[in-house]
Amino acid sequence: MSPRPEPVVSVLLDPDRAGDSLIEDVRRGLGSQPRTISPKWLYDDRGSELFDQITKLPDYYPFAAEHEILSDFAPQIAAASGASTLIELGSGTSEKSRILLDAFTATGRLRRFTPVDVSEATLRQATETLAERYPGLRVEAVVGDFTLHLAQLPAGDRRTIAFLGSTIGNLYREERAAFLGALSDVLVAGDSLLLGVDLVKSADRLVAAYNDPDGVTEDFVRNVLHVLNHALGSEIDVDGFAYVPFWDPHMERMDLRLRAEMPQRVRLPGAGLDFTLASGEEVRVEISTKFRISGISGELEDVGLPVRQVWTDRAGDFAVLLAAKPTG
Ligand code: SAH
Ligand code: TRP
Repeated sequence: MSPRPEPVVSVLLDPDRAGDSLIEDVRRGLGSQPRTISPKWLYDDRGSELFDQITKLPDYYPFAAEHEILSDFAPQIAAASGASTLIELGSGTSEKSRILLDAFTATGRLRRFTPVDVSEATLRQATETLAERYPGLRVEAVVGDFTLHLAQLPAGDRRTIAFLGSTIGNLYREERAAFLGALSDVLVAGDSLLLGVDLVKSADRLVAAYNDPDGVTEDFVRNVLHVLNHALGSEIDVDGFAYVPFWDPHMERMDLRLRAEMPQRVRLPGAGLDFTLASGEEVRVEISTKFRISGISGELEDVGLPVRQVWTDRAGDFAVLLAAKPTG
Protein backbone atom coordinates (compact mmCIF):
# COMPACT_ATOMS: atom_id res chain seq x y z
CA MET A 1 0.00 0.00 0.00
CA SER A 2 1.31 3.45 -0.81
CA PRO A 3 1.63 5.71 2.22
CA ARG A 4 -1.10 8.25 2.74
CA PRO A 5 0.08 11.66 1.43
CA GLU A 6 0.41 14.22 4.22
CA PRO A 7 -1.81 17.27 3.69
CA VAL A 8 0.08 20.44 2.82
CA VAL A 9 -0.97 23.95 3.85
CA SER A 10 0.74 26.84 2.03
CA VAL A 11 0.32 30.30 3.48
CA LEU A 12 0.25 33.02 0.85
CA LEU A 13 -1.19 35.59 3.22
CA ASP A 14 1.76 36.96 5.08
CA PRO A 15 0.50 37.80 8.61
CA ASP A 16 2.31 41.17 8.57
CA ARG A 17 0.97 42.03 5.15
CA ALA A 18 -2.50 40.97 6.31
CA GLY A 19 -2.21 43.68 8.98
CA ASP A 20 -1.09 46.22 6.38
CA SER A 21 -3.86 45.21 4.09
CA LEU A 22 -6.46 45.63 6.85
CA ILE A 23 -5.13 49.10 7.65
CA GLU A 24 -5.10 50.04 3.98
CA ASP A 25 -8.61 48.68 3.49
CA VAL A 26 -9.98 50.44 6.53
CA ARG A 27 -8.32 53.72 5.63
CA ARG A 28 -9.83 53.59 2.17
CA GLY A 29 -13.23 52.18 3.17
CA LEU A 30 -14.09 53.90 6.43
CA GLY A 31 -12.20 57.07 5.60
CA SER A 32 -14.31 57.97 2.54
CA GLN A 33 -17.97 58.32 1.56
CA PRO A 34 -20.01 56.16 1.45
CA ARG A 35 -18.30 54.50 4.39
CA THR A 36 -17.61 50.82 3.83
CA ILE A 37 -15.82 47.90 5.47
CA SER A 38 -14.55 45.09 3.28
CA PRO A 39 -16.47 41.84 3.95
CA LYS A 40 -13.40 39.65 3.92
CA TRP A 41 -12.75 40.86 7.48
CA LEU A 42 -16.02 39.23 8.59
CA TYR A 43 -14.34 35.84 8.78
CA ASP A 44 -12.08 35.75 11.80
CA ASP A 45 -12.46 32.61 13.96
CA ARG A 46 -15.64 33.87 15.57
CA GLY A 47 -17.03 35.10 12.23
CA SER A 48 -16.40 31.71 10.63
CA GLU A 49 -18.16 30.03 13.56
CA LEU A 50 -21.15 32.40 13.26
CA PHE A 51 -21.32 31.82 9.51
CA ASP A 52 -21.43 28.09 10.16
CA GLN A 53 -24.45 28.74 12.42
CA ILE A 54 -26.10 30.83 9.68
CA THR A 55 -25.92 27.89 7.27
CA LYS A 56 -28.11 25.92 9.69
CA LEU A 57 -30.81 28.60 10.09
CA PRO A 58 -34.21 27.55 8.70
CA ASP A 59 -34.67 30.77 6.68
CA TYR A 60 -31.17 30.73 5.21
CA TYR A 61 -32.24 28.65 2.18
CA PRO A 62 -29.09 29.13 -0.04
CA PHE A 63 -27.01 26.60 1.86
CA ALA A 64 -29.67 23.86 1.75
CA ALA A 65 -30.55 24.62 -1.87
CA GLU A 66 -26.97 24.37 -3.09
CA HIS A 67 -26.45 21.29 -0.94
CA GLU A 68 -29.45 19.69 -2.66
CA ILE A 69 -28.07 20.51 -6.13
CA LEU A 70 -24.68 19.04 -5.33
CA SER A 71 -26.20 15.93 -3.75
CA ASP A 72 -28.47 15.34 -6.75
CA PHE A 73 -26.00 16.12 -9.52
CA ALA A 74 -22.45 15.61 -8.23
CA PRO A 75 -21.84 12.57 -10.47
CA GLN A 76 -22.98 14.57 -13.54
CA ILE A 77 -20.86 17.52 -12.45
CA ALA A 78 -17.80 15.30 -11.97
CA ALA A 79 -18.29 13.67 -15.36
CA ALA A 80 -18.72 17.02 -17.12
CA SER A 81 -15.65 18.48 -15.39
CA GLY A 82 -13.28 15.53 -15.80
CA ALA A 83 -10.87 17.34 -13.45
CA SER A 84 -7.68 15.85 -12.08
CA THR A 85 -7.29 18.89 -9.79
CA LEU A 86 -10.22 20.46 -7.96
CA ILE A 87 -9.59 23.91 -6.47
CA GLU A 88 -12.21 25.52 -4.25
CA LEU A 89 -12.20 29.25 -3.48
CA GLY A 90 -13.64 30.33 -0.12
CA SER A 91 -14.07 26.72 0.93
CA GLY A 92 -14.73 27.46 4.62
CA THR A 93 -15.50 24.27 6.54
CA SER A 94 -15.56 22.31 3.23
CA GLU A 95 -18.86 20.71 4.15
CA LYS A 96 -20.09 20.96 0.56
CA SER A 97 -16.66 20.07 -0.86
CA ARG A 98 -17.18 16.57 0.47
CA ILE A 99 -20.19 15.97 -1.76
CA LEU A 100 -18.11 16.97 -4.75
CA LEU A 101 -15.10 14.98 -3.60
CA ASP A 102 -17.13 11.79 -3.20
CA ALA A 103 -18.22 12.07 -6.83
CA PHE A 104 -14.92 13.39 -8.22
CA THR A 105 -12.85 10.66 -6.56
CA ALA A 106 -15.30 8.05 -7.88
CA THR A 107 -14.38 9.04 -11.47
CA GLY A 108 -10.87 7.77 -10.77
CA ARG A 109 -9.39 10.92 -12.35
CA LEU A 110 -9.13 13.28 -9.38
CA ARG A 111 -5.61 13.45 -7.90
CA ARG A 112 -5.57 16.64 -5.89
CA PHE A 113 -7.87 18.98 -3.95
CA THR A 114 -6.84 22.55 -3.15
CA PRO A 115 -9.16 24.42 -0.78
CA VAL A 116 -8.40 28.17 -0.59
CA ASP A 117 -9.59 30.43 2.23
CA VAL A 118 -8.51 33.52 4.18
CA SER A 119 -9.64 31.95 7.43
CA GLU A 120 -6.58 29.94 8.41
CA ALA A 121 -7.91 28.06 11.45
CA THR A 122 -11.05 26.91 9.64
CA LEU A 123 -9.02 25.87 6.61
CA ARG A 124 -6.49 23.87 8.65
CA GLN A 125 -9.25 22.01 10.41
CA ALA A 126 -11.05 21.23 7.15
CA THR A 127 -7.77 20.05 5.60
CA GLU A 128 -7.17 17.52 8.38
CA THR A 129 -10.69 16.14 8.09
CA LEU A 130 -10.47 15.83 4.31
CA ALA A 131 -7.05 14.17 4.33
CA GLU A 132 -8.42 11.50 6.65
CA ARG A 133 -11.56 10.96 4.65
CA TYR A 134 -9.82 10.75 1.25
CA PRO A 135 -6.59 8.84 1.91
CA GLY A 136 -5.61 8.60 -1.76
CA LEU A 137 -6.05 12.29 -2.48
CA ARG A 138 -3.37 14.98 -2.29
CA VAL A 139 -4.90 17.73 -0.18
CA GLU A 140 -2.88 20.91 -0.78
CA ALA A 141 -4.58 23.80 0.96
CA VAL A 142 -3.80 27.47 0.40
CA VAL A 143 -4.32 30.22 2.97
CA GLY A 144 -4.88 33.04 0.54
CA ASP A 145 -7.11 35.76 -0.85
CA PHE A 146 -8.98 34.80 -4.01
CA THR A 147 -8.90 38.41 -5.19
CA LEU A 148 -5.08 38.45 -5.01
CA HIS A 149 -3.67 34.95 -5.38
CA LEU A 150 -5.35 33.33 -8.38
CA ALA A 151 -2.13 33.22 -10.37
CA GLN A 152 -0.40 31.29 -7.57
CA LEU A 153 -2.85 28.41 -7.51
CA PRO A 154 -1.49 25.01 -8.52
CA ALA A 155 -1.19 24.29 -12.22
CA GLY A 156 -2.56 21.03 -13.54
CA ASP A 157 -3.51 19.39 -16.79
CA ARG A 158 -7.25 19.67 -16.13
CA ARG A 159 -8.48 21.88 -13.32
CA THR A 160 -11.92 22.78 -12.08
CA ILE A 161 -12.20 25.83 -9.87
CA ALA A 162 -15.27 25.67 -7.64
CA PHE A 163 -16.65 28.90 -6.20
CA LEU A 164 -19.76 28.04 -4.22
CA GLY A 165 -22.12 29.56 -1.69
CA SER A 166 -22.87 32.55 -3.95
CA THR A 167 -19.76 34.15 -2.50
CA ILE A 168 -19.38 35.82 -5.90
CA GLY A 169 -22.49 37.82 -4.97
CA ASN A 170 -20.55 39.46 -2.15
CA LEU A 171 -18.34 41.30 -4.66
CA TYR A 172 -19.46 44.66 -6.05
CA ARG A 173 -20.19 44.72 -9.78
CA GLU A 174 -16.77 46.11 -10.79
CA GLU A 175 -14.97 43.76 -8.42
CA ARG A 176 -16.92 40.86 -9.88
CA ALA A 177 -15.98 41.79 -13.44
CA ALA A 178 -12.31 42.13 -12.45
CA PHE A 179 -12.41 38.84 -10.57
CA LEU A 180 -14.03 36.91 -13.43
CA GLY A 181 -11.55 38.41 -15.90
CA ALA A 182 -8.61 37.43 -13.70
CA LEU A 183 -10.04 33.96 -13.28
CA SER A 184 -10.44 33.51 -17.01
CA ASP A 185 -6.85 34.68 -17.48
CA VAL A 186 -5.47 31.90 -15.28
CA LEU A 187 -7.60 29.14 -16.79
CA VAL A 188 -6.33 27.24 -19.82
CA ALA A 189 -8.17 25.12 -22.38
CA GLY A 190 -9.79 22.15 -20.66
CA ASP A 191 -10.08 23.95 -17.29
CA SER A 192 -13.49 24.89 -15.95
CA LEU A 193 -15.30 26.98 -13.37
CA LEU A 194 -18.07 25.58 -11.16
CA LEU A 195 -20.01 28.56 -9.87
CA GLY A 196 -22.83 28.62 -7.29
CA VAL A 197 -25.20 31.60 -7.50
CA ASP A 198 -28.29 32.54 -5.54
CA LEU A 199 -31.22 33.57 -7.76
CA VAL A 200 -33.52 36.61 -7.64
CA LYS A 201 -36.70 35.85 -5.69
CA SER A 202 -39.30 37.59 -3.54
CA ALA A 203 -38.04 40.35 -1.26
CA ASP A 204 -39.75 38.72 1.73
CA ARG A 205 -37.78 35.52 1.46
CA LEU A 206 -34.55 37.36 0.81
CA VAL A 207 -34.92 39.65 3.79
CA ALA A 208 -35.86 36.68 6.01
CA ALA A 209 -32.71 34.84 4.92
CA TYR A 210 -30.53 37.72 6.18
CA ASN A 211 -32.49 38.72 9.27
CA ASP A 212 -33.11 35.75 11.54
CA PRO A 213 -35.13 36.30 14.73
CA ASP A 214 -32.33 35.08 17.01
CA GLY A 215 -29.91 37.66 15.67
CA VAL A 216 -27.19 35.25 14.51
CA THR A 217 -26.84 37.14 11.22
CA GLU A 218 -26.76 40.44 13.06
CA ASP A 219 -23.99 39.13 15.33
CA PHE A 220 -22.10 37.92 12.27
CA VAL A 221 -22.22 41.33 10.57
CA ARG A 222 -21.50 43.31 13.76
CA ASN A 223 -18.55 41.01 14.50
CA VAL A 224 -16.61 42.93 11.86
CA LEU A 225 -16.40 45.82 14.35
CA HIS A 226 -14.87 43.47 16.95
CA VAL A 227 -12.34 42.43 14.31
CA LEU A 228 -11.33 46.10 13.85
CA ASN A 229 -11.17 46.66 17.60
CA HIS A 230 -8.90 43.67 18.09
CA ALA A 231 -6.65 44.24 15.10
CA LEU A 232 -6.34 48.03 15.20
CA GLY A 233 -6.79 48.80 18.86
CA SER A 234 -9.90 50.89 18.28
CA GLU A 235 -12.66 51.10 20.85
CA ILE A 236 -15.71 51.14 18.62
CA ASP A 237 -18.86 50.69 20.69
CA VAL A 238 -20.24 47.65 18.87
CA ASP A 239 -23.58 47.77 20.71
CA GLY A 240 -24.08 51.33 19.52
CA PHE A 241 -24.73 50.04 15.99
CA ALA A 242 -27.97 48.63 14.60
CA TYR A 243 -28.02 46.00 11.88
CA VAL A 244 -29.83 47.24 8.76
CA PRO A 245 -30.46 44.62 6.06
CA PHE A 246 -32.55 45.60 3.04
CA TRP A 247 -33.33 44.46 -0.49
CA ASP A 248 -32.24 46.85 -3.23
CA PRO A 249 -34.60 46.02 -6.12
CA HIS A 250 -32.70 48.18 -8.59
CA MET A 251 -29.33 46.51 -8.05
CA GLU A 252 -31.01 43.18 -7.23
CA ARG A 253 -28.94 42.68 -4.14
CA MET A 254 -29.26 42.48 -0.41
CA ASP A 255 -27.50 45.39 1.19
CA LEU A 256 -26.30 44.79 4.75
CA ARG A 257 -25.29 47.82 6.76
CA LEU A 258 -24.54 48.95 10.28
CA ARG A 259 -26.07 52.22 11.48
CA ALA A 260 -24.67 54.32 14.30
CA GLU A 261 -27.52 54.79 16.77
CA MET A 262 -25.78 57.74 18.41
CA PRO A 263 -22.77 59.82 17.40
CA GLN A 264 -19.76 57.49 17.37
CA ARG A 265 -16.19 58.63 17.63
CA VAL A 266 -14.10 56.20 15.65
CA ARG A 267 -10.41 56.32 16.48
CA LEU A 268 -8.24 53.86 14.62
CA PRO A 269 -4.72 54.85 15.64
CA GLY A 270 -3.35 51.91 13.63
CA ALA A 271 -4.93 53.31 10.47
CA GLY A 272 -4.34 57.00 11.20
CA LEU A 273 -8.08 57.62 11.30
CA ASP A 274 -10.09 59.69 13.76
CA PHE A 275 -13.58 60.79 12.85
CA THR A 276 -17.10 60.89 14.18
CA LEU A 277 -20.03 59.05 12.64
CA ALA A 278 -23.19 61.11 12.94
CA SER A 279 -26.21 59.57 14.59
CA GLY A 280 -28.01 57.60 11.89
CA GLU A 281 -24.95 57.39 9.64
CA GLU A 282 -24.52 54.03 7.95
CA VAL A 283 -21.51 51.87 7.19
CA ARG A 284 -21.84 49.39 4.30
CA VAL A 285 -20.49 46.01 5.29
CA GLU A 286 -21.71 43.49 2.77
CA ILE A 287 -23.83 43.05 -0.30
CA SER A 288 -25.26 39.76 -1.48
CA THR A 289 -26.15 40.10 -5.14
CA LYS A 290 -28.83 37.80 -6.53
CA PHE A 291 -28.55 36.58 -10.09
CA ARG A 292 -30.54 35.62 -13.15
CA ILE A 293 -29.10 32.69 -15.07
CA SER A 294 -29.09 34.69 -18.32
CA GLY A 295 -27.26 37.62 -16.69
CA ILE A 296 -24.47 35.68 -15.06
CA SER A 297 -24.10 33.47 -18.14
CA GLY A 298 -23.59 36.65 -20.19
CA GLU A 299 -20.95 37.90 -17.76
CA LEU A 300 -19.10 34.58 -18.02
CA GLU A 301 -19.36 34.58 -21.80
CA ASP A 302 -17.96 38.13 -21.85
CA VAL A 303 -14.76 37.01 -20.13
CA GLY A 304 -14.38 33.97 -22.40
CA LEU A 305 -15.94 31.34 -20.16
CA PRO A 306 -19.06 30.07 -21.93
CA VAL A 307 -21.53 28.18 -19.74
CA ARG A 308 -21.83 24.48 -20.61
CA GLN A 309 -24.38 23.27 -18.07
CA VAL A 310 -26.70 24.65 -15.42
CA TRP A 311 -28.25 22.77 -12.50
CA THR A 312 -30.89 24.13 -10.12
CA ASP A 313 -32.62 22.84 -7.00
CA ARG A 314 -36.21 21.64 -7.31
CA ALA A 315 -37.64 24.92 -5.98
CA GLY A 316 -35.54 26.94 -8.45
CA ASP A 317 -33.93 29.06 -5.72
CA PHE A 318 -30.26 28.52 -6.53
CA ALA A 319 -28.13 27.56 -9.52
CA VAL A 320 -24.79 25.87 -10.09
CA LEU A 321 -23.15 26.61 -13.45
CA LEU A 322 -20.28 24.90 -15.17
CA ALA A 323 -18.36 27.21 -17.51
CA ALA A 324 -15.38 26.03 -19.51
CA LYS A 325 -12.37 27.59 -21.11
CA PRO A 326 -12.75 26.63 -24.77
CA THR A 327 -10.03 24.83 -26.67
CA GLY A 328 -8.22 26.75 -29.39
N1 SAH B 1 -18.06 27.80 0.43
C1 SAH B 1 -18.66 27.72 1.76
C2 SAH B 1 -18.36 28.95 2.63
C3 SAH B 1 -18.93 30.25 2.13
S1 SAH B 1 -18.64 31.60 3.26
C4 SAH B 1 -20.14 27.54 1.61
O1 SAH B 1 -20.63 27.66 0.49
O2 SAH B 1 -20.82 27.27 2.59
C5 SAH B 1 -17.37 32.46 2.41
C6 SAH B 1 -15.98 31.88 2.67
O3 SAH B 1 -15.07 32.62 1.85
C7 SAH B 1 -15.51 32.02 4.11
O4 SAH B 1 -14.96 30.80 4.54
C8 SAH B 1 -14.46 33.14 4.05
O5 SAH B 1 -13.43 32.95 5.00
C9 SAH B 1 -13.96 33.03 2.63
N2 SAH B 1 -13.48 34.29 2.05
C10 SAH B 1 -14.10 35.49 2.07
N3 SAH B 1 -13.39 36.40 1.37
C11 SAH B 1 -12.29 35.74 0.91
C12 SAH B 1 -11.18 36.12 0.09
N4 SAH B 1 -11.06 37.38 -0.37
N5 SAH B 1 -10.25 35.19 -0.23
C13 SAH B 1 -10.38 33.90 0.24
N6 SAH B 1 -11.40 33.48 1.01
C14 SAH B 1 -12.35 34.39 1.33
N1 TRP C 1 -22.18 34.26 0.38
C1 TRP C 1 -23.12 34.35 1.48
C2 TRP C 1 -24.35 35.08 0.97
O1 TRP C 1 -24.23 36.06 0.32
C3 TRP C 1 -22.52 35.06 2.66
C4 TRP C 1 -23.53 35.31 3.75
C5 TRP C 1 -24.45 34.47 4.21
C6 TRP C 1 -23.71 36.47 4.49
N2 TRP C 1 -25.18 35.06 5.21
C7 TRP C 1 -24.75 36.24 5.39
C8 TRP C 1 -23.10 37.66 4.48
C9 TRP C 1 -25.18 37.22 6.27
C10 TRP C 1 -23.52 38.62 5.35
C11 TRP C 1 -24.56 38.39 6.24
O2 TRP C 1 -25.46 34.65 1.18
